Amino acid sequence: MKQQVELLVHNIGQLCTIPAQDGGPQRGARLGALGLLGNAAIAIDQGIVVATGDDADLRARYEGATMLNAQGRLVTPGLVDPHTHLIWAGDRADEFERRLVGATYQQIMAEGGGIVRTVQATRQADLATLVEESKARLAAMLAHGTTSVEVKTGYGLTTASEIAMLNAAALLDSEHPADIALTFLGAHAIPPEYAGNPDGYVDLIVNEMLPAVAEWRAEHWPGTLFCDVFCEAGAFDLAQTRRILEAAARYDMALKVHADEFETLGGARLAAQVGATSVDHIVATPDDEIEAVAASDTIAVALPPTPFGLGQTRYPNARRWLDAGAALAIATDCNPGTAWNENMQFVMALATRAMRLSPAQALAAATINAAFAIGRGGEVGSLEAGKQGDLVIWDAPSYPHLSYRFGRNLAQVVVKRGQIAYHSWWVGLPL
Ligand code: NIG
Ligand code: FE
Repeated sequence: MKQQVELLVHNIGQLCTIPAQDGGPQRGARLGALGLLGNAAIAIDQGIVVATGDDADLRARYEGATMLNAQGRLVTPGLVDPHTHLIWAGDRADEFERRLVGATYQQIMAEGGGIVRTVQATRQADLATLVEESKARLAAMLAHGTTSVEVKTGYGLTTASEIAMLNAAALLDSEHPADIALTFLGAHAIPPEYAGNPDGYVDLIVNEMLPAVAEWRAEHWPGTLFCDVFCEAGAFDLAQTRRILEAAARYDMALKVHADEFETLGGARLAAQVGATSVDHIVATPDDEIEAVAASDTIAVALPPTPFGLGQTRYPNARRWLDAGAALAIATDCNPGTAWNENMQFVMALATRAMRLSPAQALAAATINAAFAIGRGGEVGSLEAGKQGDLVIWDAPSYPHLSYRFGRNLAQVVVKRGQIAYHSWWVGLPL
């Protein structure tokens, strides 16, 4: 008697299971272990992976209420995007044009442009507008194969507008098949009201915002809530970053740090010291801080679309991070200032060229390690029995295609918790 399951994906030409390593991320030289199976199938029931294995064997054992014939194609876990600023209103296309003729991101920020422009637009937007604009981006992410997305606040910068962003994120999480990991980023920029008084704003974060966020969380967000700080010249210095993170930890929040996007302030070492889940950007991280992060449980998240989006040539030094034994993940950094992109396939294409990752390393960095970067390595990021049934059938025969090709969406069917959440019509996979 065959066991009934909700979904059987069969006739998979190449299945990448991308296993966790000793229950953790794939570290250092071990990055890129894809757990490849040829002629494979995967059985999913009640949203959870029941079995992966040989096609004939699984077809003999399982009957799917839905049978999906992958027709020899590539199947991977759903991609995980562990760093996005998904929620904002408006755009900054004019700043992009200015940067192309010589203005720098920091110059524009110092003149009162940059993040605070998006803050103004976001404060003015009502909740429905904010959710609508952001949902379009989330839908694009899902359609490109991303099934779990980290989302930050940080374009409100008042207690009320930061809470409004948390509400928008919670609404998106409940209304949309993609899962959201949520991060409070009140420390994204010094808002105009506190220009010249950054410590006054840090006081506000510590004394008013964090308590309000903790109260909001008790009512609306049962899972992990992260607190992140943009540790950078012109944003928050090392002492301010430490103060905010230590206060957040007292509210039982998990921690993240934006560090070394442009300059070295010591944010990477601090992230390791305070036990942050991840440290992100890591372009300008010095060797001794790379060692410190590698010796910790903190995941190093590279965001290659950011230097690309800014037209810069300096990317994180992946070789150094991997030689040190760090757990490296990659993300879009989707935001209106430096990197408006929703597509993790593009991030893999870029990480292979600009950071010299192999296609296997890029894929593991975009799945299992990205899952650990949002504290969900036990639930998503790999196709192992007991984990969520999140997967993508790609219009490609093998994993290198995901990095090798770029500029068009190769995701053909996206499954979230065993349910088809997106499929393209134009390639004509019979469903
Ligand atoms: O990660 N670095 C800080 N935040 C974003 C930029 C946000 C913006 O410019 O709106 C980033 O690059
Ligand atoms: Fe960011």
